[in-house]
Amino acid sequence: KTYTVAVVGATGAVGEAMLSILAERKFPVGTLHALASERSAGEKVAFGSQKLVVQDLATFDPAGVDIALFSAGGSVSKEYAPRFAAAGAVVIDNSSAFRYDDDVPLVVAEVNPEQVANRPRGIIANPNCSTMQMLVALAPIHRAAGIERINVATYQSVSGAGRTAMEELGRQTAAMLNFQPHEPAKFPVQIAFNLIPQIDEFMDNGYTREEMKLVWETRKILGDDAIQVNPTAVRVPVFFGHSEAVHLETRRKLTAGEARELLEAAPGVEVVDEREPGGYPTPVTHAAGADPVYVGRIREDLSHPRGLDLWIVADNIRKGAALNAVQVAELVVKARS
Ligand code: A2P
Repeated sequence: KTYTVAVVGATGAVGEAMLSILAERKFPVGTLHALASERSAGEKVAFGSQKLVVQDLATFDPAGVDIALFSAGGSVSKEYAPRFAAAGAVVIDNSSAFRYDDDVPLVVAEVNPEQVANRPRGIIANPNCSTMQMLVALAPIHRAAGIERINVATYQSVSGAGRTAMEELGRQTAAMLNFQPHEPAKFPVQIAFNLIPQIDEFMDNGYTREEMKLVWETRKILGDDAIQVNPTAVRVPVFFGHSEAVHLETRRKLTAGEARELLEAAPGVEVVDEREPGGYPTPVTHAAGADPVYVGRIREDLSHPRGLDLWIVADNIRKGAALNAVQVAELVVKARS
């Protein structure tokens, strides 16, 4: 059996990766519709060895679509995802539009795959990239020892902010190296050779929305509202791959060796922890273009009797977005056959 699949936002950084991952993993695609705004309708995008002509979402008829992968921003999802679902499609939405709705499951393929079946609205939400990679690594630790509290600082690449953000880092870097003027546009301040401790808007409590996503989504995905999460989210001048310094406190003490064993057995995780120069994952040496969530620097927290420290790195466009969406689509299809 094959399926009619639509990718909404097919010209974007995540949409492009969705197309290549569907082809790579040989998803049973019969027909694939590449959709974007009227700005790019008529352009071509790659799907395996094929070239697909991009169609305008606004005039597209969703009848007959079995699975729709959305990554065109929250407002597009709010408007069009319910229409695709009403036409019979299962929508897998990468935006934050539906993530916190009780009747929309929020699924990390390795953590709570059983939740794909609970989709009364025909919509399944894909988590935020930072939460995604953190929980692939932390879920097995939570199951084994119970996580009470997570302190996390993120180091997030510009691809998470889309294609225009990557262009801004490239252009700004080149301009600076050539002593040319450069103005920030997508980012609030210069991103080249800099760090920005703000991702998404500020909330009343002083955290940013990106930081609160780590709080809300961790609790929803692990199904445990008692977990305390204290995040700081930082944008860094890296193109692909988010990194996270995670300090966690468990109910039951876990040694670093026990944590390492759990992580080595965890689906989707690769441990890279040699305790020598280069013996740890980085966005450039490990994560960019790769599927696993890499974990290194596993050690016991000097300052807390039940504390553990981890360094978690993954490709935010792949596991953090497109790959998980395709894995969720695979779970939907598996349940049907
Ligand atoms: P387009 O190329 O037509 O602007 P990114 O996150 O990398 O910036 O990508 C955003 C994706 O969402 C692009 O594919 C973009 O298409 C698509 N998109 C943005 N706004 C709309 C819209 N109003 N309708 C359909 N697609 C949209």
